[in-house]
Amino acid sequence: MNSSNLIGKPLLEVDTPSLLLDAEAMQANLNLMARYFQGRPAKLRPHFKSHKCSRLARLQMQAGAVGITCAKLGEAEALADAGIRDILIANQIVGPIKIARLVALARRAAPMVAVDSAENIRMLSEAAAAAGVTIRILVEVNIGMNRCGVEPGTPALELARLIHSLPGLKFEGLQGYEGHIVDLRDEAERTVKVRAAMKPLVETRRLIESIGLPVHIVSGGGTGTYTITGDLPGIDEVQAGSYACMDWWYSDIRAEFRQAQSILATVISRPTANEAVIDVGRKGVGAEFGPPRVKNLPGARVDKFGSEEHTTVTLPDGQTLPVGGRVEIIPSHGCTTSNLYREYIVHKNGVVTDVWPIDGSGKMQ
Ligand SMILES: Cc1ncc(COP(=O)(O)O)c(C=O)c1O
Repeated sequence: MNSSNLIGKPLLEVDTPSLLLDAEAMQANLNLMARYFQGRPAKLRPHFKSHKCSRLARLQMQAGAVGITCAKLGEAEALADAGIRDILIANQIVGPIKIARLVALARRAAPMVAVDSAENIRMLSEAAAAAGVTIRILVEVNIGMNRCGVEPGTPALELARLIHSLPGLKFEGLQGYEGHIVDLRDEAERTVKVRAAMKPLVETRRLIESIGLPVHIVSGGGTGTYTITGDLPGIDEVQAGSYACMDWWYSDIRAEFRQAQSILATVISRPTANEAVIDVGRKGVGAEFGPPRVKNLPGARVDKFGSEEHTTVTLPDGQTLPVGGRVEIIPSHGCTTSNLYREYIVHKNGVVTDVWPIDGSGKMQ
């Protein structure tokens, strides 16, 4: 069945595996996050990578987000296609092919990119100036994740100066992502470590401001740290994304958000009295933080997870789930799960209310 014909139909008529989105739970998550940022100096710029769905991104904007964060140029193009202008690509856009696309994007939106090298800055400037566009830039600072980013202090200041001196670029500020500690299980430990990691980022801001260069945006943070990073003086934007749809990895430490996304699957085999094999495996479940969990089936759990298209659910004694029965599972990692599907089946009270394209799905370039 064409999935748009599903609107108004019960979930029983949805084929499997499908990615479900509970509309009420998702909206409650957006509202809760929006309330947190209301009246605060820091604002929310949600990360698109978590759901990759521009319909959802538009709802986040309606709920007060100042713009959207994304990881890839292809995601930024999808957001621009959906009419969203203020887009942070929280990564380095490198090489002539991508820079040409970025320049084209700058003609129809207001993209901002992260940089951490002088070569990249010069190439961006040359291309932007030649095309007569302005590209907004954040200097990425390494605050302990040891991925990309220059060291805090003088190295970041030097790149800021260079950006400011070149045509076609606007120095907007700094990015520092505390990804190595964003999901620490212990809240007290997370709080202490995140505050310590963010300190050199804010100090770098003050250093750059001290030479008379305005810093408009200092951006960082995620779902695990929005109340920590988002509460620090000197931080302007928080890039949380997972909060909208959630996964069990984050549910365990951020219980204030509801589990809005799940994977609907069908039982295809009952090999033993306590086992049900369902029709989704690694190819349909983001599982970086562990196997999926079973929703709404007390005592059921996933012990065998490894096949591409099968998952074995262990059922409690006496559970009479038949072949053909339906099971919902919750992934450990929502961001990589959404990337595996082409649409969200949006539902309320067991009925499909809408079908949203996951238009950023597969946009790796
Ligand atoms: C650059 C960046 N910012 C923010 C986030 C936060 O996302 P989440 O809400 O999943 O913690 C991520 C996640 O990987 C990220 O890579």
